[in-house]
Amino acid sequence: MEIKVEVGDISQHPARAIVVNLFEGTKRPGGATGAVNKALGGAISQLIKEGEIKGKFNELTLIHTLGRLPSARVLVAGLGKQQEFKLDKVRAITGTALRYLRRVGAKTVATVVHGAGVGGLDPQQCAQAIAEGTAMGLYRFTKHKKKNEDEREIDALTLVESDRTKAPALRRGVATGLVLAEAANRARDMANEPANCLTPTIMAEQAQAAAQDAGLECEVLEREQMQELGMGALLGVAQGSTQPPKMIVLRYRGDRRRKATLGLLGKGVTFDSGGISIKPSAGMQAMKGDMSGGAAVISAMWAIGKLKPTINVTAVIPATENMPSGSATKPGDVVRAMSGKTIEVVNTDAEGRLILADAIAYARQQGLSPILDVATLTGSMVIALGKAATGCMTNNQELCQKVIVAGETAGEKFWQFPLYEEYKEHLKSDVADIKNVGKREGGAISAALFLADFVGDTPWVHLDMAGTDSSDKDKGAWVKGATGIPTRTLVNLVLALAGERQTRVTVSS
Ligand code: BES
Ligand code: ZN
Ligand code: ZN
Repeated sequence: MEIKVEVGDISQHPARAIVVNLFEGTKRPGGATGAVNKALGGAISQLIKEGEIKGKFNELTLIHTLGRLPSARVLVAGLGKQQEFKLDKVRAITGTALRYLRRVGAKTVATVVHGAGVGGLDPQQCAQAIAEGTAMGLYRFTKHKKKNEDEREIDALTLVESDRTKAPALRRGVATGLVLAEAANRARDMANEPANCLTPTIMAEQAQAAAQDAGLECEVLEREQMQELGMGALLGVAQGSTQPPKMIVLRYRGDRRRKATLGLLGKGVTFDSGGISIKPSAGMQAMKGDMSGGAAVISAMWAIGKLKPTINVTAVIPATENMPSGSATKPGDVVRAMSGKTIEVVNTDAEGRLILADAIAYARQQGLSPILDVATLTGSMVIALGKAATGCMTNNQELCQKVIVAGETAGEKFWQFPLYEEYKEHLKSDVADIKNVGKREGGAISAALFLADFVGDTPWVHLDMAGTDSSDKDKGAWVKGATGIPTRTLVNLVLALAGERQTRVTVSS
């Protein structure tokens, strides 16, 4: 869909629907909403007086203009309390309003830039949030369905701004927002894809295609290379499946003056049946999304390639199925990881930490630092945080704080858990250096401590997105199915880190 920025008076815009807004408790609408109200002969203020329009957040009121305005419809969107208004609400109200107008059948829509007027937010960021809310909120995964003639699309959205001086910033915001939203939607496409259509091989092919499109280098390690590197933990997970594992490596070099390279690691289990420690059949289909971390990393790399920040980033995605079979790893088996450590696999369903252990060792061998890993790692995290926030854990508080801030900008929440030594006891094995599962209690933390054991002293942040990888309903910029979390946070973080480095360079030279 096309998103344009125009300077003018929205009440005179000919789009099939125009969107204006109102803060909660506003008695007399001003600005663009005031102009539209006037053109409608005071219809909006009348509805406020009658109590139909309150301006509560997410409230939508459709008014048919019946020829009084060039546009056929006006949608009044409630922004909620002015003091509680923030960027993420711009994203959310945009998604909600545009899904509504799509259902109504409006093919062209014009909107005011929510937040940039009385809202007092930065216009460029508002425009970016509107672009993200639009492209993410209207996302649908229809690839495997026959075409439904009732399913309509919005063809074009125009942001209308009366202040000419704001237009360049708005255009920049829209451009960035569209890249970030496309990245998130690419991650969603991969995660929504059924496991028979997204095998490790296909995931690697998609990574290759994304790399080509964004000018990244792509290398895919095959089973033989994994054997040479001694990746016994990853190979142990893969050995139950007929699908060959792939270690996907994507490289972006935006800073040729330095060697320092950030590592982004993503769990790429294209289907997690649990293996011999098989999962209950009810709900198992959700485990096609167990590669969401890998999908977010691949898509973030695509956006990084498009946005070209001054920084080096390498992504490592171990991709495999976790299946039961005669050749599968059995509970109690001992595998040797690339780091040289032996692992007793007491539960084959705790496969994410096994494949990440080898990805971490590979990342460290490549000299990547700091390292971020992203994974749908534990059911324990779903119990702890539900679907509102992603858990984060770290050996480097400063870096973790930067992730949390990058998340706030993206409207993706992160909540930190501690990595206290006490939980580590749970991972002591009688027969190997470590075992892959400890106790049920504190399961998300002991899983992270397992990874920490392979990370050593490399600065590292672990993101457990087991709850936030999918949404069970349409809400704001989220739609039912894969969320694409934490793609935009990763991109924001990389842009922020690159910005810091650039400033340092300018200051020192
Ligand atoms: N992929 C799952 C974690 C998961 C659960 C993701 C629910 C999304 C929703 C992971 O591989 C797993 O099965 N973890 C086990 C670990 C347990 C055996 C220690 C779990 O959390 O149940
Ligand atoms: Zn599992
Ligand atoms: Zn898993």
